[in-house]
Amino acid sequence: MKKIILDCDPGMDDSMAIIMAAKSPELNLLAVTAVNGNYPVDVTSTNARKIMELLDITNIPVARGMEKPIVREAPKDPFTHGADGQAENFLPDPKLPLSEKHAVDLIIDLVKENPGEITLVSTGPMSNIAMAITKAPEIKPMIKEIVAISGAFGLNKYAFFNATGDTPQSEWNVYVDPEAAKLVYESGIPLVALGLDVATYFDVNFTDDDIRLLDESDKKEAKFLRQAIRYNGNRGFDAYCTVIDCMAVAYAIDPTLVETMKVRVGVETKDGLTLGMTVVDRRHHFVWENLPLIEIGCNADYGRFLKLLLGLVLK
Ligand code: BDR
Ligand code: CA
Repeated sequence: MKKIILDCDPGMDDSMAIIMAAKSPELNLLAVTAVNGNYPVDVTSTNARKIMELLDITNIPVARGMEKPIVREAPKDPFTHGADGQAENFLPDPKLPLSEKHAVDLIIDLVKENPGEITLVSTGPMSNIAMAITKAPEIKPMIKEIVAISGAFGLNKYAFFNATGDTPQSEWNVYVDPEAAKLVYESGIPLVALGLDVATYFDVNFTDDDIRLLDESDKKEAKFLRQAIRYNGNRGFDAYCTVIDCMAVAYAIDPTLVETMKVRVGVETKDGLTLGMTVVDRRHHFVWENLPLIEIGCNADYGRFLKLLLGLVLK
């Protein structure tokens, strides 16, 4: 079993990512760490616990993390995940207590206890992870890999068409805390960034049969996803918005689902039009060799992805 920590900002799709991670027999979910992002961290850490309770899980710590990006103020998300941040599923208030540790310290401690073994799955702004490797830089070589929903690399029409940040070509998680993303991209830790190019796949969507299976299921997590699809649909958004973050968990389960390539990427941290852009230097001459080399997702097997996702939700 692959040991993972899921660092997230639930968020409807982060909530779905937690469901997948917790239910996958391939993954050993050591902790869920919440960060400011889609909502303030009070909401995201509460929502993470609501989902753990929905799944009847009480033995995996959920920790509250950074309240703000590492150097700037938190922006407001132009997209809404609903009044409760969970597609208006209005789950009951959680009884599960928060971890006594701050998310940053929990990440540091777990990595030190499991050197070389932990994959960090990042589905929110990278503030917790950046702070962890700044506070304890010695953990950098001990992190096996980071798999993140991060960036928009311009590889296909989705990358910028579906841009989620509040600048024309940025992805939300990078846009919220670009300084944190830059630190993590440049950290030397193996990084797989699954950008909007592969995580927002407009033309592959739930079929009528999938919806029927969700409708017929008595699983609470199936009802959660069904309501999220309905909530998005009522606002004119496609169902893929409900499961964007699931792609990172799916990759952690089965890396053959996503084709990646190694490229040099810079993160734009200057305010203005390009804030939060992840700029790929693909030139064959004069490439900026000072930019970090990371893996980015360029294509995915969406049919297999959806099958894996639905299988876990319905099981
Ligand atoms: C990211 O933005 C958030 O709203 C989603 O949860 C996802 O992590 C996609 O850009
Ligand atoms: Ca997210």
